[in-house]
Amino acid sequence: MAAFTVNGKAVTCDKENKKLLNYLRDDLRLTSVKEGCGEGACGTCMVLLDGKATRACIPTVAKAEGKSVVTVEGLSSREKEVYAYCFAAAGAVQCGFCIPGMVISAKGLLDANPSPARADVKKALRGNICRCTGYAKIEDAILMAAEFFRDGAPIPKTSFTGKLGEDLFRLDASEKTLGTGLYADDLVVDGMAYAKALRAKHPRAKVLSIDAFAAENHPDCVRVITAADVPGDIKLGHLVKDWDALIAVGEITRYVGDAVAIAVTNTKDALDEVLSLVNVDYEELKPLASPTEALAESAPKLHENGNLLSLQKLKRGDAEKAISSAKHVVSKHYSLPFTEHAFMEPECAIAVPEEDGTLLVYTGGQSVYDEQHEICGLLGLPEEKVRIKSMLVGGGFGGKEDMSVQHHAALAAWLVKKPVKVKLSREESLKIHPKRHAMEIDFTTACDENGIITAVKADIISDTGAYASLGGPVLQRACTHAAGPYNFQNVDIVGKAVYTNNPPAGAFRGFGVTQSAFAMECNLNLLAEMVGISPWEIRFRNAIRPGQPLPNGQIADESTALEECLLAVKDAYENAKCAGIASCFKNAGLGVGVPDTGRCTISIESGKIHVRSSAACIGQGMATVLAQMVCEAVDVPPALLIVEAPDTSRTPNSGTTTASRQTVFSGEAAVLAAKKLRAELDKAPGKPVEEILQALEGCEFYAEFKPETDTMGSNKPFPVSHVAYGYAAQVTEVDEAGKVVKVTAAYDVGTLVNPKAAEGQIEGGIVMGVGYGLTEDYPVEGGYPKVKYGTLGLLRATDAPEMKTIIVKRDGKLPAAYGSKGVGELATIPTAPAIQGAYYKLDGVFRQKLPMENTFYRKK
Ligand code: FES
Ligand code: FES
Repeated sequence: MAAFTVNGKAVTCDKENKKLLNYLRDDLRLTSVKEGCGEGACGTCMVLLDGKATRACIPTVAKAEGKSVVTVEGLSSREKEVYAYCFAAAGAVQCGFCIPGMVISAKGLLDANPSPARADVKKALRGNICRCTGYAKIEDAILMAAEFFRDGAPIPKTSFTGKLGEDLFRLDASEKTLGTGLYADDLVVDGMAYAKALRAKHPRAKVLSIDAFAAENHPDCVRVITAADVPGDIKLGHLVKDWDALIAVGEITRYVGDAVAIAVTNTKDALDEVLSLVNVDYEELKPLASPTEALAESAPKLHENGNLLSLQKLKRGDAEKAISSAKHVVSKHYSLPFTEHAFMEPECAIAVPEEDGTLLVYTGGQSVYDEQHEICGLLGLPEEKVRIKSMLVGGGFGGKEDMSVQHHAALAAWLVKKPVKVKLSREESLKIHPKRHAMEIDFTTACDENGIITAVKADIISDTGAYASLGGPVLQRACTHAAGPYNFQNVDIVGKAVYTNNPPAGAFRGFGVTQSAFAMECNLNLLAEMVGISPWEIRFRNAIRPGQPLPNGQIADESTALEECLLAVKDAYENAKCAGIASCFKNAGLGVGVPDTGRCTISIESGKIHVRSSAACIGQGMATVLAQMVCEAVDVPPALLIVEAPDTSRTPNSGTTTASRQTVFSGEAAVLAAKKLRAELDKAPGKPVEEILQALEGCEFYAEFKPETDTMGSNKPFPVSHVAYGYAAQVTEVDEAGKVVKVTAAYDVGTLVNPKAAEGQIEGGIVMGVGYGLTEDYPVEGGYPKVKYGTLGLLRATDAPEMKTIIVKRDGKLPAAYGSKGVGELATIPTAPAIQGAYYKLDGVFRQKLPMENTFYRKK
């Protein structure tokens, strides 16, 4: 029996071997203490143990004997008020999953040192990872809080118009800071069972038999589920239905994340024991460990239609001819690795059979409608039988677009007729969800004697792993953006996405452009050297300007401000001792003729304006974006608004949070719906808004935004590939040792919705980009991933460089959302090539493989 205090209250726990984290979460229901990794590597479980910031997933309750434990729930009301204000005011909250842990580390620091320097704050945060923010704004928040505590100043009253361009506090900042906002794993439903899948032992093996007899006889076992129990279509997949929810007897596994059986138990603790009693016989087969092996003629087919998932060709002009007559030509091969999203919240879903025969599923994904669609298919149910409700989402970055736990929770709950929670451990999460594609790229770039680019030829092979996920569109985007944001017309790009027995690859911030832009930008530096001009100059000479056609044929619109971005970073580049530069562009919206619709309903309920759209907030601040669009269009303060969370029974389908599309698509739908409400308000000029809203009680205003784009291979001379593009230029400075010390980043993201939020997105993207270039890896050997959360190479606060963000804007009409373009993905793309350029300048070694080797961060 361990006795200690939690938040000042005496408690006892008779299970001395229980992890302190599990005791705090499961027994005391303290939701500010989060389980991000369970292995001491992330800091989301941080508590104060006798005043010292400590990760609660490491010690057992026995270690707390006689000590005091403090969580965010136990802070004084003054402390809560100060942290909630400072984190909101600094723009420090995105997905929020790391934030309570950050607050605890901050308290540990400020209790001991009330006047810390920024370096002290960074040091205090060394045990806390944030995947969203890039740390700078969290440090700002803590320094601001220190000042409040020192001065005893009251918290300022806030008042916002909510209009575009205002730093409206994020609507979810306070609940995320104080840990009261609920993520899926924070929910506990009465009578809930737990489920977990048994994963394939081998990346490629025939399942000969599954024996669940011993498991089913375990006293805590509710049921063991296999493929034979699936009532509907066992195949999942947004675009290509090739992903088995469970591998049936007689079928062949495709990767080590494949589910073979699902155990449902009455207690969480019994899951592993019950699963260990399920016996599976396999006939092990040789896995296809690379696209080269998978494309060999003798290779077995991993899927019915063979191992080539997608072939993409983008051809304009005559690249071959332009290259053969060019003054300068560079041809290089680049190798880009798989990388892991490492969102802080591991996947979790709870499915609850309702009394009316429907199934309610609480999730934390990137589209409630995609989840509904997949679950209905699996269970053979019509849409009205399945309702999906999104809880807060602790980061996604593309990694929560596919089914991971939702379908298993739904299947288990449907079959056992009781609520079921499925939560992935961090180890499972790393193994199961799709990664950023590993790509092998042959890239040729040619220019004339003045450095004007004349052609690009590229061969891109992407390893899409075991299942399609979004491998086709990712490859397509790698191809459409490979030639960069420059003005030339001879391109010949061929891409192949190939199935292997590696973990699947899918959407990840940058969506293929992160990879192909690396190749293009690195080649450009060599061309500049041949011409005798600087890397800045070659980009400036070729930068796309309004009215000119991009290499994919789309005419750059009037708002295009790449030139301005380059000018904004020129001094930073030229005055740095050793810096690299890269520019990039990124689309908003799916484009290339794919139907793409933003939808929003505004309803008046109890005198409030309810803004309803299924657009998922995966950290970027969707609710705040929608609120600001509506405040701008209706001219009402944000206090009158309630922005609802995605819920298939309340919010219209606004598509997936992907392709930097939500600000533009759902934003514009919200504006259009809001204008209908405005028209009603205008019918009663001078009357107080509250009174009109009372009269409009129950009214709904619906709108959708559905722009058209041209398909890939369109025969139009200048096809519209995407509705909008954002542009960026980044300068990355390294010191003599090769440490990235400063990043100066200029972004053209159109009209700013919330400057602080945009800056936070950019900073987070930069730090993720530094990781992509220098430290992050997801090695896979023979189909087996060789990673733990702690070895992914994620950057900590002490590793993050100084960042200067410059927002540039050029006037010019954009089709939607008051001219906003979306910023989510753009920020990650140019960092790695800019660092490569800086290293080339530093030591003359031209690195063609990521993460780069022989650097300050990784010795060979
Ligand atoms: S959950 Fe404890 S450090 Fe990650
Ligand atoms: S806000 Fe820190 S992990 Fe998302």
